[in-house]
Amino acid sequence: MTTIVVAMGEKNEIGSNNQLLWHLPKDLKHFKELTTDHPIIMGRKTYESIGKALPNRTNIVISKKKNWFEEGILIVGSIKEAVKFAKKINENIFIIGGGTIYEQTMELADKLEVTLVKTNLEADTFFPKIDPKIWKLSNEVCHEKDEKNQYDFCFQTYEKLKTE
Ligand SMILES: NC(=O)c1ccc[n+]([C@@H]2O[C@H](COP(=O)([O-])OP(=O)(O)OC[C@H]3O[C@@H](n4cnc5c(N)ncnc54)[C@H](OP(=O)(O)O)[C@@H]3O)[C@@H](O)[C@H]2O)c1
Repeated sequence: MTTIVVAMGEKNEIGSNNQLLWHLPKDLKHFKELTTDHPIIMGRKTYESIGKALPNRTNIVISKKKNWFEEGILIVGSIKEAVKFAKKINENIFIIGGGTIYEQTMELADKLEVTLVKTNLEADTFFPKIDPKIWKLSNEVCHEKDEKNQYDFCFQTYEKLKTE
Protein backbone atom coordinates (compact mmCIF):
# COMPACT_ATOMS: atom_id res chain seq x y z
CA MET A 1 0.00 0.00 0.00
CA THR A 2 1.35 3.42 -1.00
CA THR A 3 -0.18 6.23 1.03
CA ILE A 4 0.14 9.97 0.56
CA VAL A 5 -0.01 12.01 3.77
CA VAL A 6 -0.81 15.72 3.60
CA ALA A 7 -2.21 18.58 5.66
CA MET A 8 -3.89 21.16 3.48
CA GLY A 9 -6.12 24.19 3.75
CA GLU A 10 -9.42 24.76 1.97
CA LYS A 11 -7.64 25.98 -1.20
CA ASN A 12 -5.30 22.93 -1.13
CA GLU A 13 -2.53 25.16 0.25
CA ILE A 14 0.28 23.26 2.01
CA GLY A 15 3.26 25.57 2.43
CA SER A 16 4.88 28.97 2.10
CA ASN A 17 8.57 29.93 2.10
CA ASN A 18 9.43 26.27 2.60
CA GLN A 19 7.46 26.07 5.83
CA LEU A 20 4.14 24.67 6.97
CA LEU A 21 1.26 27.12 7.34
CA TRP A 22 0.08 26.16 10.83
CA HIS A 23 1.04 24.56 14.09
CA LEU A 24 -1.31 21.67 14.89
CA PRO A 25 0.16 19.31 17.50
CA LYS A 26 -2.77 16.88 17.06
CA ASP A 27 -1.92 16.61 13.36
CA LEU A 28 1.77 16.02 14.10
CA LYS A 29 0.76 13.22 16.47
CA HIS A 30 -1.52 11.73 13.78
CA PHE A 31 1.34 11.93 11.26
CA LYS A 32 3.67 10.19 13.70
CA GLU A 33 1.16 7.41 14.37
CA LEU A 34 0.61 6.82 10.64
CA THR A 35 4.26 6.78 9.60
CA THR A 36 6.30 5.38 12.50
CA ASP A 37 8.04 2.10 11.58
CA HIS A 38 7.36 2.67 7.86
CA PRO A 39 9.52 4.21 5.14
CA ILE A 40 8.74 7.85 4.33
CA ILE A 41 9.53 9.43 0.96
CA MET A 42 9.98 13.18 0.55
CA GLY A 43 11.43 15.82 -1.78
CA ARG A 44 14.70 17.53 -0.93
CA LYS A 45 12.96 20.82 -0.01
CA THR A 46 10.60 19.10 2.42
CA TYR A 47 13.58 17.39 4.03
CA GLU A 48 15.32 20.77 4.40
CA SER A 49 12.15 22.25 5.82
CA ILE A 50 11.93 19.52 8.49
CA GLY A 51 15.66 19.99 9.07
CA LYS A 52 16.48 16.48 10.29
CA ALA A 53 15.70 12.83 9.77
CA LEU A 54 12.47 11.81 11.53
CA PRO A 55 13.16 9.04 14.06
CA ASN A 56 11.98 5.41 13.91
CA ARG A 57 11.32 5.33 10.17
CA THR A 58 13.54 5.18 7.09
CA ASN A 59 13.76 8.66 5.59
CA ILE A 60 14.13 8.55 1.79
CA VAL A 61 14.90 11.92 0.19
CA ILE A 62 14.57 12.52 -3.56
CA SER A 63 17.04 14.90 -5.21
CA LYS A 64 18.86 15.37 -8.49
CA LYS A 65 21.76 17.03 -6.69
CA LYS A 66 24.91 14.92 -6.75
CA ASN A 67 27.50 14.44 -4.05
CA TRP A 68 25.67 15.29 -0.90
CA PHE A 69 25.31 13.21 2.17
CA GLU A 70 23.55 13.62 5.47
CA GLU A 71 23.40 11.33 8.42
CA GLY A 72 20.25 9.26 8.83
CA ILE A 73 18.74 9.65 5.35
CA LEU A 74 18.80 7.68 2.12
CA ILE A 75 19.18 9.99 -0.89
CA VAL A 76 17.86 8.79 -4.25
CA GLY A 77 17.68 10.37 -7.72
CA SER A 78 14.11 9.54 -8.75
CA ILE A 79 10.64 8.68 -7.48
CA LYS A 80 10.93 5.23 -9.02
CA GLU A 81 14.09 4.53 -7.06
CA ALA A 82 12.54 5.88 -3.84
CA VAL A 83 9.53 3.57 -4.17
CA LYS A 84 11.72 0.59 -5.07
CA PHE A 85 13.89 1.00 -1.96
CA ALA A 86 10.95 1.79 0.31
CA LYS A 87 9.06 -1.36 -0.74
CA LYS A 88 12.11 -3.47 0.11
CA ILE A 89 11.88 -2.20 3.67
CA ASN A 90 8.12 -2.47 4.18
CA GLU A 91 5.06 -3.09 1.99
CA ASN A 92 3.32 -0.02 3.48
CA ILE A 93 5.07 3.15 2.41
CA PHE A 94 4.23 6.82 2.93
CA ILE A 95 4.81 9.78 0.63
CA ILE A 96 5.00 12.95 2.71
CA GLY A 97 5.49 15.76 0.17
CA GLY A 98 6.05 18.39 -0.84
CA GLY A 99 4.11 19.85 -3.73
CA THR A 100 6.33 18.61 -6.56
CA ILE A 101 6.42 15.09 -5.13
CA TYR A 102 2.64 14.96 -4.58
CA GLU A 103 2.09 16.03 -8.21
CA GLN A 104 4.21 13.15 -9.43
CA THR A 105 2.84 10.45 -7.11
CA MET A 106 -0.96 10.86 -7.12
CA GLU A 107 -1.09 8.30 -9.91
CA LEU A 108 0.84 5.62 -8.07
CA ALA A 109 -0.77 6.13 -4.64
CA ASP A 110 -3.52 3.80 -3.34
CA LYS A 111 -4.68 5.95 -0.46
CA LEU A 112 -4.66 9.58 0.74
CA GLU A 113 -4.51 10.52 4.41
CA VAL A 114 -5.55 14.17 4.32
CA THR A 115 -5.77 16.60 7.20
CA LEU A 116 -8.19 19.24 5.94
CA VAL A 117 -7.46 22.41 7.89
CA LYS A 118 -10.47 24.73 7.98
CA THR A 119 -8.75 27.89 6.85
CA ASN A 120 -7.66 29.84 3.75
CA LEU A 121 -4.06 31.04 3.91
CA GLU A 122 -1.59 32.65 1.50
CA ALA A 123 0.73 29.98 0.14
CA ASP A 124 3.22 29.19 -2.60
CA THR A 125 2.81 25.40 -2.58
CA PHE A 126 -0.39 23.42 -3.16
CA PHE A 127 -1.70 19.85 -3.15
CA PRO A 128 -3.15 18.59 -6.47
CA LYS A 129 -6.94 18.55 -6.92
CA ILE A 130 -8.51 15.40 -5.47
CA ASP A 131 -10.59 14.13 -8.39
CA PRO A 132 -13.85 12.58 -7.10
CA LYS A 133 -13.90 10.32 -10.18
CA ILE A 134 -10.66 8.75 -8.90
CA TRP A 135 -10.83 9.12 -5.10
CA LYS A 136 -13.60 8.14 -2.69
CA LEU A 137 -13.80 9.63 0.81
CA SER A 138 -13.99 6.55 3.07
CA ASN A 139 -13.51 8.05 6.54
CA GLU A 140 -13.65 11.45 8.21
CA VAL A 141 -13.02 12.46 11.82
CA CYS A 142 -13.22 16.14 12.73
CA HIS A 143 -11.75 18.09 15.63
CA GLU A 144 -12.48 21.57 16.89
CA LYS A 145 -9.74 24.07 17.56
CA ASP A 146 -8.49 24.36 21.12
CA GLU A 147 -5.82 26.27 23.03
CA LYS A 148 -3.00 24.28 21.34
CA ASN A 149 -4.50 23.66 17.87
CA GLN A 150 -5.29 26.94 16.14
CA TYR A 151 -7.83 25.76 13.53
CA ASP A 152 -10.69 23.28 13.21
CA PHE A 153 -9.58 20.34 11.08
CA CYS A 154 -10.71 16.92 9.81
CA PHE A 155 -8.71 13.75 9.27
CA GLN A 156 -9.94 12.32 5.96
CA THR A 157 -9.08 9.02 4.29
CA TYR A 158 -9.54 8.66 0.52
CA GLU A 159 -9.31 5.31 -1.26
CA LYS A 160 -8.58 5.06 -4.97
CA LEU A 161 -11.58 3.78 -6.91
CA LYS A 162 -10.84 0.62 -8.84
CA THR A 163 -10.77 0.99 -12.62
CA GLU A 164 -11.82 -2.00 -14.72
N1 LIG B 1 1.26 20.51 4.57
C1 LIG B 1 1.89 19.39 4.29
O1 LIG B 1 1.39 18.28 4.52
C2 LIG B 1 3.27 19.45 3.69
C3 LIG B 1 4.02 18.28 3.51
C4 LIG B 1 5.29 18.38 2.93
C5 LIG B 1 5.78 19.63 2.55
N2 LIG B 1 5.02 20.73 2.76
C6 LIG B 1 5.50 22.05 2.33
O2 LIG B 1 5.75 22.01 0.93
C7 LIG B 1 6.83 22.89 0.63
C8 LIG B 1 7.92 22.10 -0.09
O3 LIG B 1 7.40 21.54 -1.29
P1 LIG B 1 8.07 21.82 -2.72
O4 LIG B 1 7.11 21.40 -3.76
O5 LIG B 1 8.59 23.22 -2.74
O6 LIG B 1 9.37 20.90 -2.69
P2 LIG B 1 9.56 19.29 -2.50
O7 LIG B 1 8.59 18.57 -3.38
O8 LIG B 1 9.60 18.94 -1.07
O9 LIG B 1 11.05 19.12 -3.05
C9 LIG B 1 11.37 19.50 -4.36
C10 LIG B 1 12.73 18.90 -4.72
O10 LIG B 1 12.62 17.47 -4.77
C11 LIG B 1 13.49 16.98 -5.79
N3 LIG B 1 12.68 16.32 -6.82
C12 LIG B 1 11.36 16.49 -7.12
N4 LIG B 1 10.98 15.68 -8.11
C13 LIG B 1 12.09 14.97 -8.46
C14 LIG B 1 12.34 13.94 -9.41
N5 LIG B 1 11.37 13.48 -10.22
N6 LIG B 1 13.60 13.43 -9.49
C15 LIG B 1 14.59 13.89 -8.67
N7 LIG B 1 14.42 14.85 -7.75
C16 LIG B 1 13.17 15.38 -7.64
C17 LIG B 1 14.24 18.18 -6.34
O11 LIG B 1 15.38 18.30 -5.51
P3 LIG B 1 16.79 18.93 -6.04
O12 LIG B 1 16.49 20.38 -6.29
O13 LIG B 1 17.73 18.70 -4.89
O14 LIG B 1 17.15 18.16 -7.27
C18 LIG B 1 13.26 19.31 -6.08
O15 LIG B 1 13.86 20.59 -6.04
C19 LIG B 1 7.26 23.47 1.96
O16 LIG B 1 6.58 24.72 2.16
C20 LIG B 1 6.80 22.47 2.96
O17 LIG B 1 6.60 23.03 4.25
C21 LIG B 1 3.78 20.67 3.32
